[in-house]
Amino acid sequence: VHMPVVSAPDSLSDKQFSALNFPKETHEGFARVNISFPTLSSVSVCVRVQWHPEWNEVSTIFSYAAPVFTNEFQLRGQMDVQRRVLLALIIRGKHLPYKASFPNDGAWHHICVTWRRSSGHWAIYVDGDKKDMGLDTDTSKDIHGDGILILGQDQDSFGGNFTEPFCGNITDLNVWNMSLEARHISALTACSPMTQEMIFSWNLNQLSSHPVVKEMRAVLVCPGRIMFYIF
Ligand SMILES: *[C@@H]1O[C@H](CO)[C@@H](O)[C@H](O)[C@H]1NC(C)=O
Ligand SMILES: *[C@@H]1O[C@H](CO)[C@@H](O)[C@H](O)[C@H]1NC(C)=O
Ligand SMILES: *[C@@H]1O[C@H](CO)[C@@H](O)[C@H](O)[C@H]1NC(C)=O
Ligand SMILES: *[C@@H]1O[C@H](CO)[C@@H](O)[C@H](O)[C@H]1NC(C)=O
Repeated sequence: VHMPVVSAPDSLSDKQFSALNFPKETHEGFARVNISFPTLSSVSVCVRVQWHPEWNEVSTIFSYAAPVFTNEFQLRGQMDVQRRVLLALIIRGKHLPYKASFPNDGAWHHICVTWRRSSGHWAIYVDGDKKDMGLDTDTSKDIHGDGILILGQDQDSFGGNFTEPFCGNITDLNVWNMSLEARHISALTACSPMTQEMIFSWNLNQLSSHPVVKEMRAVLVCPGRIMFYIF
């Protein structure tokens, strides 16, 4: 078994990220990840998001569609009346509950989702804590390869018919072909890089964005605070 290498947290050091802003004024923003996906028997996706304070529609953080099936793997969220953002996964068409949450306080939040076919386990972590988990009883199917990963929109058809846009800021989205463990996610929340087994590592050169999506630079003061300026 190959375990990821987790380096020691670089406490009190700044870390810079390129980030994307998905504006609320238009509902067209999206970014497409330009990599080819293998069949996945396990997957983890981590991302940092800053939710728009006045956006309470269902919002797609990312959607992964395969040619044979569009709702393969998706993370969505919606703000409730108490201004909490509730998160839900869709795995191979099955919409799991909105339960994991964080306050919509304008701060950056670190979200990780994990899934492993062989055990059926899935989990949602927020800011390093496991907030929801479950068991998928259908352990027969992998997540199909050759799919399209879109940030900020749901895909009602393969690579198109976008709905349920995200509004806010996204950075540091990474994809692994393995189910990360709690200790790895704690390390990632504290900005420690994981170097192995990553199938997509956040890189704007591998993203094609709609023109309304603006690039920004984020400075993350590890492990907690991010400050922004537009370049
Ligand atoms: C996507 O990546 C491929 C292979 O790296 C490259 O040839 C192609 O130009 C890229 N497309 C876009 C739109 O960036
Ligand atoms: C996103 O970043 C922009 C640019 O720094 C900032 O103006 C905005 O308040 C941030 N948050 C959201 C939710 O858009
Ligand atoms: C996609 O949108 C077009 C135009 O609105 C519509 O004709 C088509 O049926 C949609 N396809 C799917 C799969 O929803
Ligand atoms: C994950 O991807 C890496 C790099 O492509 C590969 O070497 C490894 O075997 C894959 N692991 C699994 C569990 O599929």
